[in-house]
Amino acid sequence: MKSEKKSILLLSAMQQEYDAVISNMTEQIHREEYGISIVEGDLFGKHCVTAISGVGKVASAFTAQYLLILYQPKFVVFTGVAGALNPDYQIGDIVIAQDTVQHDMDGRGLGFPRGEVPYSGQRFFDSNKQLLDIAEKTQCAHRVHIGRVLTGDQFITNKEQTTYSYMHEELQGDAVDMEGASVAYVCKKLNTPFILVRTISDKANSEAPENFEAFLPEVAGNSLAVIQQILLNTNH
Ligand code: ADE
Repeated sequence: MKSEKKSILLLSAMQQEYDAVISNMTEQIHREEYGISIVEGDLFGKHCVTAISGVGKVASAFTAQYLLILYQPKFVVFTGVAGALNPDYQIGDIVIAQDTVQHDMDGRGLGFPRGEVPYSGQRFFDSNKQLLDIAEKTQCAHRVHIGRVLTGDQFITNKEQTTYSYMHEELQGDAVDMEGASVAYVCKKLNTPFILVRTISDKANSEAPENFEAFLPEVAGNSLAVIQQILLNTNH
């Protein structure tokens, strides 16, 4: 049985991305449903539900939809790592998504611009403005950027790819991930405020696989400062 308290939902794609969250949570209750590991507890004085969504758009949309319907959270914070497209971004920097887009959505054959969900009129999915206003005031040891995160079912490794100029120039992306826009889509459908917070683990280039492996455990906890800022400054 789920708890009756209205919660805040904290999601990450992988275990290492939410270790810092879990290690700061008290009063933990663990459960598993449909293969989703769920931990309820208190974090910075707020009742939270955390879960690992799995990697990619389908896994993350499934997890988000299931937990949103089950818990009806007040809002959703998705945290984890991302590859940088913006040349100013360095490994360890934090990017708070102003908005997200599915870079691998391609309805050009039907006359729609790439990134737009055909017949929906929807291309860019905004983070919640109130959460963004709070999050961007985070004071921490890392650089904090507000940017556009592009989501797709690909780990981007090579700036020479033809997709790179599309992502960088046409979509004006600052970072790439594999879950942000799909969870943003589900939250929009279910009318739940959403914010995406990523730490840069690599520069989406030929060194990205090694950088991702090396820096994931090191930088994944950086976004905890933003989570803390959000939890301490929302009235729930
Ligand atoms: N997440 C972290 N680095 C990434 C990359 N290079 N491509 C897609 N998602 C990522």
